[in-house]
Amino acid sequence: MSEERLVSSLALNEEENTDTSLRPLKLNDYIGQEKIKENINIFISAAKGREESLDHVLLSGPPGLGKTTLAVIIANEMGKPIRKTSGPAIERPGDLAAILTNLEPGEILFIDEIHRLHRSIEEIVYPAMEDFALDIVIGKGPAARTLRIDLPPFTLIGATTRPGLLSSPLRDRFGISSRLDYYNEKELMGIVKRAANILSIEIELEGASEIAKRSRGTPRIANRLLKRVRDYAMVKASGLINKDVTVKALELFEIDKYGLDNVDRMILDSIIVKFGGGPVGLDTLAASVSEESDTITDVYEPFLLKVGLLQKTPRGRIATELAYKHLGYKAGSKYANQLFDE
Ligand code: ADE
Repeated sequence: MSEERLVSSLALNEEENTDTSLRPLKLNDYIGQEKIKENINIFISAAKGREESLDHVLLSGPPGLGKTTLAVIIANEMGKPIRKTSGPAIERPGDLAAILTNLEPGEILFIDEIHRLHRSIEEIVYPAMEDFALDIVIGKGPAARTLRIDLPPFTLIGATTRPGLLSSPLRDRFGISSRLDYYNEKELMGIVKRAANILSIEIELEGASEIAKRSRGTPRIANRLLKRVRDYAMVKASGLINKDVTVKALELFEIDKYGLDNVDRMILDSIIVKFGGGPVGLDTLAASVSEESDTITDVYEPFLLKVGLLQKTPRGRIATELAYKHLGYKAGSKYANQLFDE
């Protein structure tokens, strides 16, 4: 899709700057993910008490839930700098060796999309994580020698949307592993109110609640909708975000009461109409809506599964009765040729 999607959980270009201003810097200001916060708080206090670096952390979960934010908070709470990179950005073993040998003691190395790290690079990561050492192979064949360089103690924070794709030796080397889950409406309301406050946006509780309901459980989307509804409120109303303005704005942006946009609805509609409700294989489905298979599994599908509009079976994806109903088809009608009458 060439057009940027309003409810995409992936970060849009314009968000690089505002995202940082909205990002909480302390664990106490981070809303939601209570269990994870409690655990991380204990691990941070213990590591600081022992004057050691924090154990390596793996953060997994769908995009937009705050994995990077949490990594920045951890660095801040540890009082250490953070260096950010990503799996696909590290192309050669030398790239990672250069990063590792330049770390300060206790520094946080954040690797986003760590499941996309090349296997040959993973092998450098193992001794680095386990022994804070870099093994360099000099020469080739029988004359090859390994030279070991000591590294400063550091904390690797890996983030992934697909923890299942990590090799088990890599997964096993993280002492702390946390899975972020979708936020509930109350938490999202808190996030919207906090962001409105920082950006000096006037918003009523019911407006915040409506945005929270349609944010697919995802803070990044909540913050984005807030900014777009603010634009609408300024141009079409007095600037105040109340329920009426929010509903009208979101209707105009074609975001429905579940927070689904055209692409989500197209996926469900395609399963119902073109494939008789399913089951349909991932690649066939992806082709029918002109999306990449990976984008379907990483971006669209998790939320559709979570709210029960889609089901995954060994033979493929199926649309649930709720999906038929939501799109206005008679529930379960095999070819969806009859409109649902309430
Ligand atoms: N902004 C984005 N995610 C947030 C969170 N979990 N808490 C507070 N503000 C946020």
